[in-house]
Amino acid sequence: MTEIPIHDHYPQASQLVYGCMGLGGGWSDVPAEEKDVKEAQQIIETCLENKINVFDLADIYTFGKAEDVVGQVLKATPSLRKKMVLQTKVGIKLTPTHAVKQYDLSPEWITSALNSSLRRLQSENVDVLFLHRPDPLMDLDDSAEALEKLHKQGKFSHLAVSNMHAGQIAWLQSAISVPIIANQLQMSLQHADFVEESITTNMKEGSQSGFPRGTMEFCEQQNIQLQAWSPLAQGIFTGKPSASPSPAELATTKLIGQLANRYSSNPNAILLAWLLKHPFNIQPVIGTTHIGRIKECAQAGKVNLSREDWYLLFQTARGNEVP
Ligand SMILES: NC(=O)c1ccc[n+]([C@@H]2O[C@H](COP(=O)([O-])OP(=O)(O)OC[C@H]3O[C@@H](n4cnc5c(N)ncnc54)[C@H](OP(=O)(O)O)[C@@H]3O)[C@@H](O)[C@H]2O)c1
Repeated sequence: MTEIPIHDHYPQASQLVYGCMGLGGGWSDVPAEEKDVKEAQQIIETCLENKINVFDLADIYTFGKAEDVVGQVLKATPSLRKKMVLQTKVGIKLTPTHAVKQYDLSPEWITSALNSSLRRLQSENVDVLFLHRPDPLMDLDDSAEALEKLHKQGKFSHLAVSNMHAGQIAWLQSAISVPIIANQLQMSLQHADFVEESITTNMKEGSQSGFPRGTMEFCEQQNIQLQAWSPLAQGIFTGKPSASPSPAELATTKLIGQLANRYSSNPNAILLAWLLKHPFNIQPVIGTTHIGRIKECAQAGKVNLSREDWYLLFQTARGNEVP
């Protein structure tokens, strides 16, 4: 797997990121069990063996249990920590713990959520702290001050954001001296708005794209690493079709299978190779808990899709040729 710089300070980060949202035994208040810790250990080791060394968490994943099981693995095998780039996110308050689902980037919540994450992770710091989603009620200066303080205390090394557009990132950066090094957004062959917005300028179709215009280019220009969440499209093209698949979905699934054969690879790798072909060095955050699929994903860097096949995949998934 190619190693890419996530940031100048981070030359050792892998191109694929392992997304830990599926760890911890599911979204319930049943505490994580020994088998969930064992699963996390096996997955972390498999990732490292396959040169995937960035691990993506959030305080809310499986209501804290994902961080909890990773923390237990780190406690049992402390030597793993220095091999891992650990990232977590704060900023979402989720039911059933909170009466109303809401975003909270207040100084109090950022501070208490990060401290809780570190406690669960049994770690003194995380490598990258993500602000999970923009909070419309955030007071910029107050939140920036809290983040500066936590950074000075060594509780996180690098700051990043998720689901933010260029304007929001620039605004945040204007008040905080810690550089924002990454932005995590939904990107896949199923959720390809990041490509749609780039090819539909001045066209009616452009208004259908939910992707914030210019955000890709802004991040690239500012040395902000792009990370793609749900890059496997939750399996809809590779073995777990949606309840009533559209003709485009069925055609894409068939094409991915054909390309897997032609490139002597596998469908998961083809799906990720489509993202990796983009020149902005996107880091897909893969969320599979299946060991075999993790190994298949790790093959993505070996597939160099031709320009024709990249466009053919895009055209097939969108159901129409490009304008
Ligand atoms: N920043 C954000 O707002 C945000 C939002 C969502 C997610 N994320 C991050 O992105 C990561 C990935 O997201 P994700 O898990 O939603 O998406 P994903 O990686 O696209 O899909 C993973 C899910 O799809 C299933 N799947 C994939 N291929 C399959 C196949 N061939 N057959 C059957 N099932 C298949 C997996 O099941 P198995 O486990 O059985 O393989 C798993 O449930 C998360 O772990 C998290 O770190 C971030």
